[in-house]
Parts: sequence; structure tokens; C-alpha cells
Amino acid sequence: MYQYDEYDQRLVDERVAQFADQTRRYLAGELSEDEFRPVRLQNGLYIQRHAPMLRIAVPYGNLNSKQLRTLGHIARTYDRGYGHITTRQNVQFNWPRLEDVPEILDLLAKVQMHAIQTSGNCIRNVTADPFAGVAADERVDPRPWCEILRQWSTFHPEFAFLPRKFKIAVNGAEEDRAVIQVHDIGLDIVHNTAGELGFRVLVGGGLGRTPIIGEEVAAFVPWQQILNYCEAVLRVYNQHGRRDNAYKARIKILVKALGVPEFARQVEAEFAHLKDGPSTLTQAEIERVAGRFNDPVLDALAQDAGYRARLTEDKAFAAWARRNVRAHRVSGYASVVLSLKPYGVAPGDLTADQFDAVAELADRYSFGEVRSTHEQNIVLASVREADLHRLWQDARAIGLATPNIGLLTDIIACPGGDFCALANAKSIPIANAIQDRFDNLDYLFDIGDIEINISGCMNACGHHHVGHIGILGVDKNGEEFYQVTIGGSQGNDAALGKVIGPSFAAAEMPDVITSLVNNYIDHREEDERFIDTVRRIGVESFKTRVYAERQSQRKAAHV
Ligand code: HEM
Ligand code: SF4
Repeated sequence: MYQYDEYDQRLVDERVAQFADQTRRYLAGELSEDEFRPVRLQNGLYIQRHAPMLRIAVPYGNLNSKQLRTLGHIARTYDRGYGHITTRQNVQFNWPRLEDVPEILDLLAKVQMHAIQTSGNCIRNVTADPFAGVAADERVDPRPWCEILRQWSTFHPEFAFLPRKFKIAVNGAEEDRAVIQVHDIGLDIVHNTAGELGFRVLVGGGLGRTPIIGEEVAAFVPWQQILNYCEAVLRVYNQHGRRDNAYKARIKILVKALGVPEFARQVEAEFAHLKDGPSTLTQAEIERVAGRFNDPVLDALAQDAGYRARLTEDKAFAAWARRNVRAHRVSGYASVVLSLKPYGVAPGDLTADQFDAVAELADRYSFGEVRSTHEQNIVLASVREADLHRLWQDARAIGLATPNIGLLTDIIACPGGDFCALANAKSIPIANAIQDRFDNLDYLFDIGDIEINISGCMNACGHHHVGHIGILGVDKNGEEFYQVTIGGSQGNDAALGKVIGPSFAAAEMPDVITSLVNNYIDHREEDERFIDTVRRIGVESFKTRVYAERQSQRKAAHV
């Protein structure tokens, strides 16, 4: 994992001291509400439904055990005993007291963490594949590149006041697990036909009010030029992005308005000035940054016979291994996903004790490190096969071994109406009600891969547009209703879901999901996933089934 150098540390320490003084002045009445607002937002502090909400940056999802223990301590001491992993790999606390935030930021700085640029119209935390560096299908490890982007974007003076927030995601594997197609800039690390390393650049993706899949503006930018190229993209956006209308301010709207060829032409014109300029990367710079990742050196091990024997002997372990264990690039190792989606818990929540326990698991089994995922789970990147059975038992003891990764109950959900002031409807109780309905593991395994994503409003923090089933909270005359989309997907074949029709009451949602699943089961061909059936037979049959069954159940309820 990346270790701060003295500059990184000084930057963060100075920011903590500055904010401590600003908070003191605000609390003493020396700064007005209006003066304090931008200052607190620059430090990740929102005012939400119940209390301030603190968003802490987790660069490309990487966390070490010391940081996890600090997060556990913060949850226990300053919050209500839990924290939340977000769909941008960050960590949020929902109940800190404003007067405690400087102290929290100070604790974070001591373990090389901060809340800088987790809010506001700047370049936000860069996100990446949670299996970066270990995935069996990886071309290039994206983490050093993410770190270079982090250093370049932190306090970049030209890009501190963009028309709107700006999100960059980086992928270096065959399968895109960073959802680069729904980011402002999506970077895919590739080799050209000459074998040189560079970046395929996608621009203008995003969810929210106007969801759009990003499009390629450059097929290959040599790695030396990637910061210059990103600067060119940001300059065009900074100059021409809509500042008059917050709903139209994202880069996706500009790209759409100009069209990709014209947008790309303008970027090329900017790039012509920037190319080979001060932000040009050198081999020495890459090595400097890559050298600060103190990754374990993994020697290939023989495949573990004990592990394989356990898989045949122990059905519950085998089920967990099938869903939660992933191939590793080094033989004898595996990556493990700890499920933060047990029944009845808000997706992505970890208690203070679980933060500590995950730190313990990381130390014991995975070189002291974990990654947060945009699907709101935790990854232990490098676990010896020989340790998997013990790890499973330990994870089970703390409630983090639900064998449901990628299954119907592994739901992505934003905080919704329980916490978020912008919500039209609740998200967490809907996720929990669906999990309750599908509480039979054998049935879940039979249904197979399916992604349900829930957002409490059109801001789409829960990525509902790219869920195989997307659920969006809507307000109907002051009441909470839910609109359903199907056919969305993330990954290489990212797509936006289609609305199936009028929205449903909260109480209907488990039945709606049941109808959709039953329709899939009736139509699926052997080994076909839900999303593939939807693609093959279309939305109509699902729509007809759901509304017909809702109609008859509503009638039955009135008899
Ligand atoms: C509770 C406080 C939160 C507030 C006030 C908030 C606010 C917003 C707003 C206003 C947008 C739309 C911005 C735009 O595209 O114009 C947005 C988008 C988004 N937020 Fe949140 N959000 C909150 C919590 C979260 C959480 C907890 C997560 C993760 C679980 C999250 C992840 C995202 C993501 C992934 C988007 C995607 C939209 C995009 O950029 O394409 N947010 N949020
Ligand atoms: S989608 Fe809406 S309700 Fe959910 S966290 Fe984002 S802003 Fe809040």
C-alpha cells in the first residue's frame, strides 16, 4: 500500500490545523454560516438529516489495518458505533459532532488519511478495481497511476472550482471492475500494437439525473502524457461546462451537447499546448511513486491440497468459497470478499468492533491490508489458500462471511431517507425487506448472479441505473414510491436499465422482485444469468408479469 512521504504528510497536517482553527472561529461566532459552509465542505463535512456527515477519502479503496483500527475507534468514540462504506470506496460517518471533527481529522492524519476533496466541485477521490495488483486478469496494476492522479489532483489550483464535481476511475484488467464507463473520465490502461503502455480515455459518463455511458475520446494516450491529456479534458470542461444550471453542469452534458468528435477536437487543441509540458511523466517519477507501495513479495506456492479437500468435505465452506473467493495472479493465493450484506444490516455498514476485527483478519491473513469496493464490501487481496478455511471461520464469527457476493442479497444501496436530506424515499429498509424475502441460500444460489442497486433519489448514489434490477425512490404526493428499471449492467458491457412502468409502494417491493425473478426462472436457458435472459427476451415479458401479478394481488387484498 502507498506510504505517505513528508510532503503528503505535511499537506494533510497543515490542512487539519487550518480546519481546527476555522471550526473554533465558527463555534465562537467569528465566522458566519455562509463563510463556514465552503470550508467545512472542503473537509468532507456535510450537514445532513440528523447531524453532520463526514466523508473520508479512501484513495482507490486501499486501507491498512492501522487505518481500520482508527476508523473503528472513531466509530466507537465519536459516532454511534458504526461507519459506512460508500459506492465510491470511501468511508462515511453519519453522526459526528461538529466540534469533534477537527479531532477526528487529526486522528486520521496520524494514519495517513484525510477528507480532502471528498466534496465540492473538484476532482474527487480516484476509484479503481478493488482487486488491483492481484487480479488474475490484470494487464497493468492501476494503483501507482491512481496515486499519481491523486497527487496531481490534490489542491490542483486550476481545478478547485470546476462547474461540478469530477470523478476519475482507472481500470487495468480485462474485466472492468471500476465502472469506468460511468465516470467523468474513465481510464483503461492498455498496450498498443507496439507493446507500449498507455491509456484509452473515456469521457462523459455518469449517473444521476441524466445517466450517460461514457465514450472514447482517445484510443491511446502514451503514459508520459496522461496528466497532460487529463488537463486538456478538464480545461475544456472548466471553460465550457454549464455553470448556470447545476443540473446541467457535469461534463457529460457538455460532451453530449458538443458531440464526441467536436469535444475530442477541442481537447486535442488544448493538448497540443500541454503536450510535453511540466506535467509530463517520467520513468523516474513512476518509479518514485510505485516505490512507495510496500507490497508484499509473493512467491508462488503449490496449490493447497488441504484447501481442496475441505472444499469437498465442507458444504458451507465450499458455498462461501464459490461466491466469495476469487482467483489470484500468484498460484497458491486467493482474494477474499468479506460480505457487508448480512441479513438486516444496512448494506456497507461496519460496526466499530467489526472495523477492529477486519483489521485483525487483515493482519493475520492478508499482509495488513484490505480494499473497500464500490459494491460496498471489503476485499482481502492476498490470502494463502492454506489459510482460507481458518479465515472463513474467523470471518463467520464476526458476521462477515455471508456467502452472497454477486447474489440477489448483495444489494448496493445509498443511505436514502434514513440519513440523506436529499432523499425522496428510504433505501435501507427496502434492501432489508428484499433480503428477508430471499433468505433461503439454496434458492439464492439457484437464482445465481444478479445485481440489485437502490438509490433514494435521482442522484443515483446507489448506482441504480446500472443494476440488473435498479430501484429508485420517488416522491408521489408526499409518499414514498419506487420506480424499477431492469437490464442495467456495469463492467465491460455497461448499460443503463429501462424503466418497466409506474412505481410501486414500499410494501410491494419484495413481491415485485419475486415476480421478476420468477419470470427469469421460467424463461432462462441453462446457466443463463438474469441479465442475459433480460437481454435475450427483452423487458416486455418482465413488465407484463410484474404488473399482472401486482394487479391480482392488489385485487385480492381488497376482497
Ligand atoms: C448522505 C449524503 C449524500 C449526499 C448529500 C449526496 C449527494 C449526491 C448528489 C447531489 C449527487 C449527484 C451529483 C450530480 O451528479 O450532479 C450524488 C451522486 C452520487 N453519490 Fe452521493 N450523496 C450522499 C451520499 C452518498 C453515499 C453514501 C454514496 C455511496 C453509498 C454516494 C455515492 C454517490 C455516487 C456513486 C454518485 C453518482 C453519480 C455520478 O457521479 O454519476 N453518495 N450524490
Ligand atoms: S441517491 Fe439521493 S437519497 Fe441516496 S444518498 Fe444520494 S442523494 Fe441521498
